[in-house]
Amino acid sequence: MSEFPVIAIDGPSGSGKGTIARRVARALGWHLLDSGALYRLVGLAAARKGQTDASEEALAAIASDLEVRFDADDAGEERVWLGDSDVSAELRTEECGRLASQVAVLPKVRNALMGLQKSFRTAPGLVADGRDMGTTVFPDAMLKVFLTASAGERAKRRHKQLNDKGIDVSLPALSRDIEDRDRRDSERSVAPLRPAEDARLLDSSNLTIDEVTQTVLDWAHELIDAK
Ligand code: C5P
Repeated sequence: MSEFPVIAIDGPSGSGKGTIARRVARALGWHLLDSGALYRLVGLAAARKGQTDASEEALAAIASDLEVRFDADDAGEERVWLGDSDVSAELRTEECGRLASQVAVLPKVRNALMGLQKSFRTAPGLVADGRDMGTTVFPDAMLKVFLTASAGERAKRRHKQLNDKGIDVSLPALSRDIEDRDRRDSERSVAPLRPAEDARLLDSSNLTIDEVTQTVLDWAHELIDAK
């Protein structure tokens, strides 16, 4: 097994884990895995093939064959490619989130993405965010953070994030979507959303992005220095 250190940041949608993971990775100079993007890509790839209702095996085959590439544009903004098409914007839509959480309940799809997720673990280290980074994909992570925030706060954040991108959705509809997705993610039998036993819980409801980032970095440095 690879010994490169991993920081796992798990939590429900809208808890801020994507933003925090990106900042922590940048501060440490480590790689970043946005595992939710992989589930979103499977959902999107299935939709493009008209196969959202396909069998578990067919969806797992789509997951195994994902032609995905991550890079950055000239301004340093991350871009995600599915084959030849830039799907960065489409991937962030609520529709894609919903498709992702539907394919994510399927054990064979989860299995099909396992190797790809682990392949992000390279030198000098990896910050991975998702739902099961600390429990299933990287159980030996050096630091496991379970990031939460109240449901109302999470809906408000998502709303602002989407508005900033010019995507218009109503707050009540978004809250319902988030609740549905939380329920599906928490109640599924395989790799449900829950903190690892050795995770540190962090409630970000009343904290700024800088404060949450700093807390995670302090924890990381504590552990790195103790080695
Ligand atoms: O984090 P994000 O909102 O992009 O994730 C989209 C969906 O992908 C989640 O609602 C969840 O169903 C699924 N997911 C998962 N396991 C992960 C990451 C995401 O099941 N590690």
